[in-house]
Amino acid sequence: MSAPQPRPGILEIRPYVGGESHLPGHDRVIKLASNESALGPSPRAVAAYRATAATMHRYPDGDALELRQALGARYGLDPARIVCGAGSDELIHFLCRAYAGEGDEVLYTRHGFAIFPIAAQACGARPVAAAERDLTASVDELLACVTPRTKLLFLANPNNPTGTYIPADEVKRLRAGLREDILLVLDSAYAEFVGANDYTAGIELVDAGVNTVMTRTFSKIYAMGGVRLGWAYCPAPVADVLNRVRGPFNVSSAALAAGKAALEDTGFAALARRHNDYWRPWLAAELAKIGIPTTPSVANFVLARFPTTPGSDAAAANAFLKSHGIIVRAMGGYHLPDCLRITVGTGDENQALVAALTEFQAKANAQASAKAAP
Ligand SMILES: Cc1ncc(COP(=O)(O)O)c(C=O)c1O
Repeated sequence: MSAPQPRPGILEIRPYVGGESHLPGHDRVIKLASNESALGPSPRAVAAYRATAATMHRYPDGDALELRQALGARYGLDPARIVCGAGSDELIHFLCRAYAGEGDEVLYTRHGFAIFPIAAQACGARPVAAAERDLTASVDELLACVTPRTKLLFLANPNNPTGTYIPADEVKRLRAGLREDILLVLDSAYAEFVGANDYTAGIELVDAGVNTVMTRTFSKIYAMGGVRLGWAYCPAPVADVLNRVRGPFNVSSAALAAGKAALEDTGFAALARRHNDYWRPWLAAELAKIGIPTTPSVANFVLARFPTTPGSDAAAANAFLKSHGIIVRAMGGYHLPDCLRITVGTGDENQALVAALTEFQAKANAQASAKAAP
């Protein structure tokens, strides 16, 4: 019996595995697995979301006009060159669908965001991963991977799950080193958290030509991951292409309303930023004190590295945390099996995480000493 078959390559996609939310036997869990904002959404965004309920029989504004105007005003951008999506994930898929296909290559970094290879494979293209240096994107390695088949390059800056970034002059060097017909997509999902003054989210690079796009999300500092809202700032021809491939009503009324309110609540976003500015370095410092190094993250999470010794390794630490009701993200799928990614939580959550890992380290060290004893 023959059954319908997907296009070649589709069944080679390794489905995205999201962070867990529940642990058997735990009524309440501490979830530090999905880089969600510790403070939750702005109350003004929640109110705006609720206010759309009574008109849910109406289709949303398919042009997302008010939100694009608000984004344009906030960042000094031409609203006509902003395209909204159901999360920036959707925009990443649209870009692949529109600019790559069978026989093409889509470049990204070895530990780059997992949706990049999935979106490439979904449109029949081949994902090509460039080596990194010190868990950081390398412009030289990326440029060395370019072939005549390269159509798109995705750079998450800062990257998830490493948390590292490359400075503006390096992003500029990357663009300058790429052929003009290669579309460079700067995924700046965590831009609002970055304090480094040599950082760029990419706006000036988009404005400088016709071949660079910046994607952004409301899922991180604006804490609206459940609503699905992202946007892309594009050269005019790319915005035109995205508007042709997207669904006419791809963003819901609730997302549009909540997004606009979240954007207007600048005080709340500033609070989330200050929270992260305090707790991310605190987490990194406390983990270092107990012998767990982390990458120099500029986002709202840290990537913690464990030894490979059984009992002291990332898998054992993860199991221990789960037994204490704490969910972080295992990194096997990112080729980082010795690491755990830990999202910055509330103050209490961060303290509980450090207390649990301190206990774990003490146990692991005691076990190691017992084994080493003659
Ligand atoms: C680097 C990066 N890009 C994009 C996204 C997707 O964001 P969205 O929720 O807008 O689809 C994430 C989410 O984790 C991310 O880490």
